[in-house]
Amino acid sequence: MGFYQDQIVPLLINWSMRQRNLTAYRSRIIPAAEGRVLEIGIGSGLNLLFYSRNVTHVIGLEPPPRLLAMARRAERAEFGHVEFIKGSAEAIPLKDASVDTVVTTWTLCSIPDALRALRDMRRVLRPGGRLLFVEHGRAPDPHVVWWQDRLTPVWKRLGGGCHLNRAIGTLIEGAGFQFDRLETGYMRGPKPMTFMYEGSARPR
Ligand SMILES: C[S@@+](CC[C@H](N)C(=O)[O-])C[C@H]1O[C@@H](n2cnc3c(N)ncnc32)[C@H](O)[C@@H]1O
Repeated sequence: MGFYQDQIVPLLINWSMRQRNLTAYRSRIIPAAEGRVLEIGIGSGLNLLFYSRNVTHVIGLEPPPRLLAMARRAERAEFGHVEFIKGSAEAIPLKDASVDTVVTTWTLCSIPDALRALRDMRRVLRPGGRLLFVEHGRAPDPHVVWWQDRLTPVWKRLGGGCHLNRAIGTLIEGAGFQFDRLETGYMRGPKPMTFMYEGSARPR
């Protein structure tokens, strides 16, 4: 990784992910996690505040060391069971069927092979376990998709590999999940960046 990817992108991620608009999604999704939780791309640890007492253990997976260090600093004193692992979602260093909940918030846009990562999330999830997600991605409106397709090549270079145009629902289903709940819609802001997918799914 170069200096920009290694040092600047983590700062941009921490800054951009603190938007108050996003907090509303975190506060809806994260309290539903339970048991042993794997959080994919934990970033600077902004979800840690929202886990409930039904969670026994959180494993935060993240590739860049700089973000892992930020997540460690965000660890809540009263929430003792957090473990941080440097690694990639495409090869999760955990045993099959070993977690109760997988959480992913705005990470499927930037994982290079998102389908492979989702298949690995399914592998580590116990039967009946849940994938909880909030992601941005491909919009239903052709004129917005036109912009998403054109902006993505530049956007991903500046934004840590973030794609604007991934069809998140199709990817989740394609990896062998079925939805318990899927809600979609635009958040406030420029439409190519703000089409959200929120919900939960279980291994089929
Ligand atoms: C937009 S940030 C979201 C961070 C955090 N989930 C949040 O909600 O604030 C995208 C995150 O995905 C992580 N990421 C990128 N590629 C990844 C991979 N292959 N495996 C796991 N995480 C990855 C990035 O390092 C970054 O932390």
